[in-house]
Amino acid sequence: MRVGVLTGGGDCPGLNAVIRAIVRKGVQEYDYDFVGFRDGWRGPLEGVSMRLDIPAVRGILPRGGTILGSSRTNPLKQENGIARIRENLAAQGVDALIAIGGEDTLGVAARLTDEHGVPVVAVPKTIDNDLSATDYTFGFDTAVGIATEAIDRLHTTAESHMRVLVCEVMGRHAGWIAIHSGLAGGANVILIPEHRFDVDQVCAWVTSRFKASYAPIVVVSEGAMPKDGDMVLKDESLDAFGHVRLSGVGEWLAKEIEKRTGKEARTTVLGHIQRGGTPSAFDRWLATRFGLHAIEAVRDGDFGKMVALRGTDIVRVPIADATARLKTVDMKLYEEVGVFFG
Ligand code: F6P
Repeated sequence: MRVGVLTGGGDCPGLNAVIRAIVRKGVQEYDYDFVGFRDGWRGPLEGVSMRLDIPAVRGILPRGGTILGSSRTNPLKQENGIARIRENLAAQGVDALIAIGGEDTLGVAARLTDEHGVPVVAVPKTIDNDLSATDYTFGFDTAVGIATEAIDRLHTTAESHMRVLVCEVMGRHAGWIAIHSGLAGGANVILIPEHRFDVDQVCAWVTSRFKASYAPIVVVSEGAMPKDGDMVLKDESLDAFGHVRLSGVGEWLAKEIEKRTGKEARTTVLGHIQRGGTPSAFDRWLATRFGLHAIEAVRDGDFGKMVALRGTDIVRVPIADATARLKTVDMKLYEEVGVFFG
């Protein structure tokens, strides 16, 4: 059995831990061979691969990024994309493919396996934690830890200068990073994509916080939108899946707060710092278990499935279940944390 492995979409702490677990168990227990496809779907699309064996995965468990490289290549938008993938898999003698990715990468995986019969097993990854069918994706815990540490640090500057500090975190469609790090970091306002915000209300919270002699911290997801108006963007360019590149709402909001309250307001955009560097212990644990269960699914010939965390168990679900609908923050949860606003 020869198994192809690829990592697609934005990089994410824990990708290397998944790759290592797949290869270690595949070689040691099942005597499988592996081929590493480079840069997400670009690898099988263009036939670009690398050696993937036990020496290649040595020492990578704590390393961020991915040794396979990643990209947002969308084979469904390329001429004969699916046929080219099939040809390249056959040329490499690949019997099964493990795709590690988020909504977009796994959307392609679902089409390949369900409509074209390509034997694919999927592993969910995204720092945004917005994939359905799994309680958590790896990478999220690391991102929340980084954002929480940043918020802790912003508190001391906000208090020393009695200014508003806006912290923009990642989260395209879902405010999981904002709500977890905002709650853990004691933010005074948390704004998420699921709930359009009212700038006057934000200013009222900011003012009441100053009245209590404390400086406010506002955590805002990059995908959050004001009640009146559109998404605030710095750059309108699109990626290969047609997503606009986010960021800009933090800067815009700080200017609005300053204009409306007369208080100095500054912004910190955490950006790719949230995705970079070494994974947390939880993410290494989850990513490793996902890898072990993914290669087990290949061994069982259980294709078209994604490994998922349910409670403390790893289960298998149809890939399409994870991509059909995004997992967003429930309004009840958002209202629950509202007691700390202002
Ligand atoms: O994939 C998740 C994500 O982290 C989003 O929150 C963010 O909008 C996007 O990646 C940014 O991706 P890129 O670095 O490719 O622009």
